[in-house]
Amino acid sequence: MNRPHAFSKGHSAYPRGSAFSISPNSFQPRSQPALRRRRQLFQRLCLLAGVSFLLTILIFPSWRAAVIPTLSLGLIHSSGDLQLQTVRYYDLSEVQGSEKGWERGERVLMLTPLRDASSHLPMFFSHLRNLTYPHNLIDLAFLVSDSRDDTLRMLSSMLQEIQNDADPKMSFGEISVIQKDFGQKVQQDVESRHGFEAQASRRKLMAQARNWLLSATLRPTHSWVYWRDADVETAPFTIIEDLMRHDKDVIVPNVWRPLPDWLGGEQPYDLNSWQESETALALADTLDEDAVIVEGYAEYATWRPHLAYLRDPYGDPDMEMELDGIGGVSILAKARVFRAGVHFPAFSFEKHAETEGFGKMAKRMKFSVVGLPHYTIWHLYEPSVDDLRHMDEMEKERQAQEQIEREHELADKQKQSSNSESQNDAEKGSSEGPAAQPPKDAAKGNSKQDKS
Ligand SMILES: *[C@@H]1O[C@H](CO)[C@@H](O)[C@H](O)[C@H]1NC(C)=O
Repeated sequence: MNRPHAFSKGHSAYPRGSAFSISPNSFQPRSQPALRRRRQLFQRLCLLAGVSFLLTILIFPSWRAAVIPTLSLGLIHSSGDLQLQTVRYYDLSEVQGSEKGWERGERVLMLTPLRDASSHLPMFFSHLRNLTYPHNLIDLAFLVSDSRDDTLRMLSSMLQEIQNDADPKMSFGEISVIQKDFGQKVQQDVESRHGFEAQASRRKLMAQARNWLLSATLRPTHSWVYWRDADVETAPFTIIEDLMRHDKDVIVPNVWRPLPDWLGGEQPYDLNSWQESETALALADTLDEDAVIVEGYAEYATWRPHLAYLRDPYGDPDMEMELDGIGGVSILAKARVFRAGVHFPAFSFEKHAETEGFGKMAKRMKFSVVGLPHYTIWHLYEPSVDDLRHMDEMEKERQAQEQIEREHELADKQKQSSNSESQNDAEKGSSEGPAAQPPKDAAKGNSKQDKS
């Protein structure tokens, strides 16, 4: 019963209070020499650790690389930071491609191979301007090859113009122009370009060009790749979104072309988009290992269902059709298809090359490949030599016909005027030739009208 007593004593308890008075000796600070000895030991240990660390780093350089970055937070500043700045990390799961890429800021690499294409460039740039997919999300890449016209110069100046446009929404992302010849020797005119003999080698060279262009320009930031030819005449401004919405690995629209009225007004253009058939597979088996089947020629009757022929102008534009081979006029593909190694074979892959081989290879790697039979874009109509000859004949015929009509008219007028006795006027009219010029223009106008 000490405590109550101490408290009751008040002042006597405080200065010699229980807390201080129990056993003062046990809390006495250590003697100075003991403290100094301990500090010295610690310093020596540190020194030893430091020296052995430095030695290890000198002896095992590879160890250095592993250790320095983890210490670089504060210790080894300059050299560590310089190394880190040259390393970039990408998470490709962020760029897989989704059905509403424009909302998620997904970048599209738009690729266009060009060859003697200066006459098509103004139209192509008009299409570019009209694209509704956000331009800043589109990177453009061009391959100019085997050209003898001034494609490259025109391209440069038109690119400069569009990038400097007053409208900030007009300019595109990164732009690459690559020039490389692939030795396309075939004349670029329509006749020889589409002749059967030239097809296989032409397609293999095109394949090389496409692979070259793609591998030189595909970046880890791209979610989509859009291949688009320069000679498309009419296409919806929303085409990238329209194709993207289907969320397929590879997708193509239907491609037709307008024709003059006397040739029927319109015609399927791209016959490279098709579904495989038993007949074609049997045919492929009979062919040489290096043979390349090119679709749309009588030489190879494959009886495949073609995307082009399934078109119904009033059909549902969203309807899909599974494809095996595809054409290259306008292809939207997820970038991961190319990253997985699918490419445009410049050799016979399952008896096909280039875009048809690409479709087959993508299918083989379990990617989805589809076409839209009722969603149509229009390829430029370039008259063939036959067409031109025919047009020439038609023009001559028309002129002859007009001549006959004029003579009849004149004869009629002469009859009438001989009645009214005023022959002078009629003769004057005939010498001026009130010829009918319009038919040619009218036909051209009509053939384009209902396509857009
Ligand atoms: C682009 O849009 C303008 C304005 O709507 C139109 O006149 C032009 O023909 C379009 N260009 C193409 C290539 O469709």
